[in-house]
Amino acid sequence: MATKAKTVFYCTSCGNESPKWMGRCPACGEWNTMVEAPVEPKKGPAAAGAHGGAPRSGRRPQHLREIDYSQEARISLGMGEVDRILGGGMVPGSLVLIGGEPGIGKSTLSLQIPLMCNNLRTLYVTGEESARQVGMRARRLGGDDSNCFIFCETLIGAVIEEAESMKPDLMIVDSVQTMYTDTVESAPGSVTQIREVAAALLRFAKESGVPVILIGHITKDGFIAGPKILEHIVDVVLQFEGENRGSYRILRSIKNRFGSTSELAVFEMTGTGLREVANPSEMLIPMHEQGLSGTAVAAMLDGTRPLLFEVQALVSSAVYGTAQRSATGFDARRLNMLLAVLEKRAGFHLSAKDVFLNMAGGLRVSDPAVDLAVICAVLSSNFDFAIPSDVCFAGEVGLSGEIRPVGQVERRVQEAARLGFKRIFVSSFAKVEVKPEGIRVVKVADVPALVKALFK
Ligand code: TYD
Ligand code: MG
Repeated sequence: MATKAKTVFYCTSCGNESPKWMGRCPACGEWNTMVEAPVEPKKGPAAAGAHGGAPRSGRRPQHLREIDYSQEARISLGMGEVDRILGGGMVPGSLVLIGGEPGIGKSTLSLQIPLMCNNLRTLYVTGEESARQVGMRARRLGGDDSNCFIFCETLIGAVIEEAESMKPDLMIVDSVQTMYTDTVESAPGSVTQIREVAAALLRFAKESGVPVILIGHITKDGFIAGPKILEHIVDVVLQFEGENRGSYRILRSIKNRFGSTSELAVFEMTGTGLREVANPSEMLIPMHEQGLSGTAVAAMLDGTRPLLFEVQALVSSAVYGTAQRSATGFDARRLNMLLAVLEKRAGFHLSAKDVFLNMAGGLRVSDPAVDLAVICAVLSSNFDFAIPSDVCFAGEVGLSGEIRPVGQVERRVQEAARLGFKRIFVSSFAKVEVKPEGIRVVKVADVPALVKALFK
């Protein structure tokens, strides 16, 4: 008698498993995220040993002192900025996910890594392109004499078998969505397949010590397709972003088991691949001599490194009844909050105005220190008054219009001084003890005081 294939339901947001479908995931509370997937029947002795009986893996707990740390030496990937984001190179046996929208340059970046570090024997597995295509790209990037092997395969079992016999120094898999395992029945790219593929690669990486770079596409909403569960499995998640039209790309770490997150590196896409931009502030700061209205420079901190960039705003009378508010690279709700603060605490009537906000270079920012520059850019556009080009800002704006101090303000001041800024506006509560030469630190307590100091 044929038995009905057993299925379970997974939440695509958090990976929670449930025997029946539910409209709302009980674990993360998201709606409409449960998808059906076939259950893989447990085979062999693992199933028998699952309950009761002796554990079969032969492993036992180790005392902290007994753990072998010797292989923790990091592997340099030949690109300084990528090494820095990883926390000083790649840890042997780690699984790194590089996520990004199609066409952003994930394949280019991951192919450039083996080309730049000639000494690493690399297995580059591609399920998206033919060996010829990859070869042509490698030639274009100027390094087809490197120690890199291209393997066109999509069955993950075969990939791992090949890797086990080849024992490369580095393995790259492009992309997780094209790989599949024949132990489960669903189509490549489905939640179950992605989970199984990532788990198989993680097992391989941990057991062999070979570091693995896994590429994953991102959906329109900005999530790694096939989804959060992948982020839980891997050790490091790097996100590759930027405007497709522009040539700058930003690589940021959003999870790192071996280093800090919120580090960020900037690359420029050129005719011969990605070029590292070692000094991103210089690229994100305006080139125009005479200041234009509607721009202000913010001193942000990305992870540990100060970064200065331009905030642009356009304020104009609303053509339609309701004013439009639009923010690129900045939280729209926060923009609304800042506009409300300007309205209520400083008496600017912006409710009948359209406000558009943009962060330079396709940057996406979440550092609250950018608030002050946002407010100044909006006011500058509103008054059509250009802020001098040698002024920058670092401060958070509170609900009552007060300007609050931000973390590591001295480092921001130092970076601003290094780039030739003459004045930096900070909160009056900020402690700046070391003052670099040539820059004046202007302390302001609230929005009215800021307006007085800057626009009068
Ligand atoms: P790709 O790495 O294929 O993107 P992904 O793997 O993320 O989908 O990069 C695609 C884009 O990069 C493509 O539009 C062409 C551009 N590109 C260059 O501008 N210069 C180059 O040297 C290369 C290899 C690609
Ligand atoms: Mg690609």
